[in-house]
Amino acid sequence: MWNVQLFKLNYDDQESLAVKNVIDSGWITMGEKSKEFESKFSTFLQNDVHSTAVTNCTAALHLALLALGIKAEDEVIIPALTFVADINVVRIVGATPVLADCESLENWNMTAATIEKVITPKTKAIILVHFAGYPCKMDEIVALCNKNKIAIIEDCAHAPGAKYKNQSVGTFGDFGCFSFFTNKNLSVGEGGMLTTMNAELDQKVKYFRSHGMTSLTLDRHKGRAITYDVSQPGLNYRIDEIRSALGLVQLEKLTKANERRKLLVEKYIELLEGTNGISIPFMDTKNLKSVYHIFPILLGVGIDRLGIIELMKQDGIQTSIHYPSFRDFTAFSDLNLNEAHIAEDIAKRELTLPLYPTMTFEEVELVVISIKSALGS
Ligand SMILES: Cc1ncc(COP(=O)(O)O)c(C=O)c1O
Repeated sequence: MWNVQLFKLNYDDQESLAVKNVIDSGWITMGEKSKEFESKFSTFLQNDVHSTAVTNCTAALHLALLALGIKAEDEVIIPALTFVADINVVRIVGATPVLADCESLENWNMTAATIEKVITPKTKAIILVHFAGYPCKMDEIVALCNKNKIAIIEDCAHAPGAKYKNQSVGTFGDFGCFSFFTNKNLSVGEGGMLTTMNAELDQKVKYFRSHGMTSLTLDRHKGRAITYDVSQPGLNYRIDEIRSALGLVQLEKLTKANERRKLLVEKYIELLEGTNGISIPFMDTKNLKSVYHIFPILLGVGIDRLGIIELMKQDGIQTSIHYPSFRDFTAFSDLNLNEAHIAEDIAKRELTLPLYPTMTFEEVELVVISIKSALGS
């Protein structure tokens, strides 16, 4: 159906073999492969970080809020421009979400200044997002949150391998939450990782992940434990061996795949330069290393976005929107969410063009020809 899809998996025989090997091993629920995935993910970020593999990033975000003790009466600051998981988890623990705006039409991330504007005595945590793989300005945010005793959860769903001032995202805050959903830089179908530099919080989330139990089914299978205690109430947010095996193969490919994404984005920028009716955010990459999760652009005021999407669809080019405003969703109509003008403006005008590591420069050219034609330029 599509000449250029929004995303394509970066899979080959290695992933197939990894899955076959797990099935042949006779052990498919969380075990040694998952431990190896956690350990190699920690090494990939920074050796002394603790990693907990989970079912998905939403589970990681939920566990982070639970481990920090966030509850009703607390306020949690989240970006006004993000995926719905960030507001949902805050609501699910009974707390109140408060929106922080983007810095500008050029930097769509929230910053210390946009966070500070919405801090109140009830603010207990922030969830920040490294949008499209571009890290937030973490030194200012960490200083602000430390001063106000506010916990930091980094939503790194877009950003495995991204760095701010040479430090990996997911190691700045109390927690980092990664997504390994199909369309992410590291894909396993459904999966996630929760990272923390704090050993106590790490133990807590490992209990929360698996019913609060002190031993795993694998430990009993291997004869390392006969029974178990339940040290705290918990959930089942475990990953499994099949996804961990996929994760290990994908982790090996990640650095190269992220480098390829960079080249593709540079090609887009070169070909789109000077096009009337669009602007490209995140052009200032001082102090940061992006991992180019998606390629978002901003359409000019008054341009019919749905019309552009339709015209590009007729050329076989798939596009997407990151993200609709929370205000557009029925679930949050009772919330009386605070205003965030820049994010609201971006939400109306954003368009995401195809990007994936196996994309060719010729495919980038096709997309650019199509959007220029749709814009009449
Ligand atoms: C910014 C952001 N946060 C959280 C999530 C949720 O990730 P998952 O699907 O792994 O639960 C996503 C997924 O698209 C996302 O883009």
